[in-house]
Amino acid sequence: MKEKPIDQMGLREIREVSRLRMSPEAWEHVMGSAESGTTMRRNQKAFRRFLFRQRIFHDITNPDTTLELFGRKLSTPSLVAPIGSFSLIGERAEAQVAEGAGRAGTMVFASHAAKSGVREWKEATSAPLVFMGYLSRGKEDVLRCARLAEELGYAAVGLTMDTIEPVKIVDQVPLSTKDGKPRRGHPSSPKDIEWLKHEVSLPVVVKGIMGAEDGRIAVDAGADALVVSNHGGRILDFNRAAVEALPEVVEAVGARVPVLLDSGIRSGGDIVKALALGAKAVLVGRPVCWGVGAAGAQGVERVIQILREEIKRVLIMTGVSAVSEVTRSILIPDTADPVERLR
Ligand SMILES: Cc1cc2nc3c(=O)[nH]c(=O)nc-3n(C[C@H](O)[C@H](O)[C@H](O)COP(=O)(O)O)c2cc1C
Repeated sequence: MKEKPIDQMGLREIREVSRLRMSPEAWEHVMGSAESGTTMRRNQKAFRRFLFRQRIFHDITNPDTTLELFGRKLSTPSLVAPIGSFSLIGERAEAQVAEGAGRAGTMVFASHAAKSGVREWKEATSAPLVFMGYLSRGKEDVLRCARLAEELGYAAVGLTMDTIEPVKIVDQVPLSTKDGKPRRGHPSSPKDIEWLKHEVSLPVVVKGIMGAEDGRIAVDAGADALVVSNHGGRILDFNRAAVEALPEVVEAVGARVPVLLDSGIRSGGDIVKALALGAKAVLVGRPVCWGVGAAGAQGVERVIQILREEIKRVLIMTGVSAVSEVTRSILIPDTADPVERLR
């Protein structure tokens, strides 16, 4: 049977096509999570606790999905999460992600663990970029990259701070995709945030916050934005879902800095729920891997486009004129039996 063109595929089809195209090792790595996988599954299931309040008597037909982040205008609140191992999916995958995100008008968080360096990401894309450093690669190298990012016009720099213990896929710590060396964890301190703030003039993003206290510590140390994230369930099994931690982080520091969320986003509806709970935007991890695995840059562009179309549908059906206008009032907690709901 002839395959549909990518611009007619939905996310589920893209996922399936990418599964067939990726090597089994790459698929296992991308889709994998720590130990029993409970955190990863919970990330997605937790969004089901909220239902939308449908509204029909309004004249909203083309809601505005644009936003501004770190002074850059974006077409949509779904951003590309930092992924160190796009290169397992294909030799050109990083450049393709960069290109597709640029065409989709979104922002790319470029991982320190990726094969492409700060300059290569910049050359490959028109998208605004955020460099996300790993302290396990040494402070000198974080600083070298952050300074180069600043020189090249990146929108922000940041630190992924939840990898105190390294990523685990089922029962194994995988080798680094970048250099084949064993992955290591690293201590994370608010002093590291203060240090980076002192060294660069770009906004500093801290990723891996899962509660109000850590959120406050990061912002007191100078963080300009936070990413509420449990790393897609790849570090701590039986963690809370990221969306469960979001409200308390927003309550603690949402008035001071933009709070972003990742982990478990699989639809435009999930994104609107995150916005309703106080996120400014979301980062998307595995679905971007599916996009690039299925159809390179076009696949990435299509994934972002699907999410944007879904966001618009939800905004229209809940009577909201713009992503910036989404409030908690469009959500109704689902009171159904949790066992039924999570089926
Ligand atoms: C294959 C893979 C590689 C990742 N590499 C990194 C990384 O290098 N740096 C980082 O901060 N997060 C990394 N993450 C975590 C993502 O940035 C993001 O937090 C997570 O994928 C979000 O969950 P989702 O996949 O459910 O959207 C990685 C995730 C995956 C799936």
